[in-house]
Amino acid sequence: KQHIEEAKMFHADNKERLEEFRIKYLGGKGILKEFFAEFKNVPNELKKEFGQVINELKNTAEEKVKSIQEQLESKEESKGQFGDLSRPGYPMEVGSRHPISLVKNQILDVFSTIGFNVSEGPEIEDDWHNFTALNLPEYHPARDMQDTFFIQTNPDILLRTHTSSVQVRYMENNKPPIRTISPGRVFRNEAVSARSHCIFHQVEGLYIDKDVSFADLKQTLLYFTKEMFGKSKIRLRPSYFPFTEPSAEVDIYWGLKTETDYRITKGTGWLEIMGCGMVDPNVLKNCGINPDEYSGYAFGMGIERIAMLLYQIGDIRMFYENDVRFLEQFKSSL
Ligand code: PHE
Repeated sequence: KQHIEEAKMFHADNKERLEEFRIKYLGGKGILKEFFAEFKNVPNELKKEFGQVINELKNTAEEKVKSIQEQLESKEESKGQFGDLSRPGYPMEVGSRHPISLVKNQILDVFSTIGFNVSEGPEIEDDWHNFTALNLPEYHPARDMQDTFFIQTNPDILLRTHTSSVQVRYMENNKPPIRTISPGRVFRNEAVSARSHCIFHQVEGLYIDKDVSFADLKQTLLYFTKEMFGKSKIRLRPSYFPFTEPSAEVDIYWGLKTETDYRITKGTGWLEIMGCGMVDPNVLKNCGINPDEYSGYAFGMGIERIAMLLYQIGDIRMFYENDVRFLEQFKSSL
């Protein structure tokens, strides 16, 4: 009876152990053989009970062998179905982020450390958000600075020419203090060359609060360029934008070293990287913010420009060709 209990408890996860078990109980010199040999020596009155016990042991052992055998076989089968699971895997191509995304994320990271959130707006815009609210009424000559793609025949609907449209949307929907950064794709009907493209990317910055001054703007830009380019020299050149007053363009000094430098900078060491200025009171008014109470600054930069500088890329068209030999080079920057 003890053997029956033991046989019931038995388990094996390989053929060898199962075979040992089979030999022990059912083999030619096994336990059962011995018991059957013993049978003739058992007194008659106990024969019946003894017989029942060894039959039960025989059945238990046989069933056990059968069921474990089935289990092991089904395991074998699944191995066949999925192939050899212990084989090394096939090599897999890992993708990489696009350099524009890399640089965009880097820019967002820098501004997030000084409290700017991220906002976005639509690429298909109306005249109000892209022009009129930004102090660019109809027939304003500065509209010609931005060769606009219009959608079909409706001159009110266009592809945004800059991310400044997101400034307007943000101010319309949020009360100051405002500290936001808006990345996005912009479109201009321009001839494609090594230096400019009809589709490119900008990051817009907007800061509105009480007593914001031009000094705040300058310091923020200095912080940004230091974080982005390391030790860097910048200069602000007076400029004009209808939506900022005063306005400036920011140049970064790029010591000329390589042929790529010359291609990007057209010969001088200063390279323009963004436009900026104090938000024009008219723009604040257009967006429902009282210019007597609040002031602020805004800036806008081209992501391609900055990526070209950082990675020494001489031709803007490379960003859109999606040549893997180009894209693969940014794998380590993941
Ligand atoms: N929108 C301007 C451009 O596309 C850049 C800019 C943004 C200038 C904000 C001033 C303030 O050129």
